[in-house]
Amino acid sequence: MRLILLGPPGAGKGTQAAGIVKKYHIPHISTGDIFRKNIKEGTELGKKAKEYMDQGLLVPDELVVAIVEERLKEPDCRDGFLLDGFPRTVEQAKSLDKVLATMDVALDSVINIEVDKEILVNRAVGRRICKDCGATYHIEFNPPQKEGICDECGGSLYQRADDNEETVSTRVEVYLKQTQPLIDYYTKQGILITIDGQQPIDKVFEDIVNALGA
Ligand code: AP5
Ligand code: MG
Ligand code: ZN
Repeated sequence: MRLILLGPPGAGKGTQAAGIVKKYHIPHISTGDIFRKNIKEGTELGKKAKEYMDQGLLVPDELVVAIVEERLKEPDCRDGFLLDGFPRTVEQAKSLDKVLATMDVALDSVINIEVDKEILVNRAVGRRICKDCGATYHIEFNPPQKEGICDECGGSLYQRADDNEETVSTRVEVYLKQTQPLIDYYTKQGILITIDGQQPIDKVFEDIVNALGA
């Protein structure tokens, strides 16, 4: 299955991705995670991306598209993939269409997770992530059994650098302006699935699986 997860910051893309890739045995490709890995490793790409991410702005299209293109051509993507946080502009979506055409494949569905603007800041500010395995928690909505410790692997939990109130507000504005037009773009292609992201995590997952119909 070839899928895209679309939704504002804090919508639950990463949270749902974990369940989706397990169920459908496809790789999870998160451009945000790729950038954060590069920042941690101090690469040139990481240095460039950090300038934008720290401000809550989008990394320029030309940097993002090349990375995704390379990743999609790896053998584990042959039978499917889940893109999380890409595309984020109409330009990126057009570039993706071109790449997929050269690979002679097409998208199956774009899963649009809808969440009201008002609750997004809370979701992001309360988020905690495992530094070892990347599992995502929320101090209020999805707390680990032991504070600050990952249930899955015992790793310690940290907060993302861009998960403060000010940066999240900018990310939401950027989403509304630059990414929301993709809803129209994929509706016209007839592959958009809309999911209510304001339900419990398990219910959101159930709705996604039902909508995918497989
Ligand atoms: P990215 O890492 O993609 O961040 P984002 O899009 O802002 O989305 P988030 O990861 O914040 O939210 P999510 O939807 O994954 O939510 P999660 O599941 O964690 O991008 C970061 C930055 O990288 C961008 O700002 C940009 O600079 C750059 N970038 C990345 N891709 C790019 C691209 N294509 N082009 C240009 N720049 C790019 O959940 C959030 C919290 O809510 C968690 O604590 C979770 O436990 C909780 N939660 C989840 N679901 C529920 C629920 N149903 N009920 C209650 N709580 C819930
Ligand atoms: Mg995410
Ligand atoms: Zn962990």
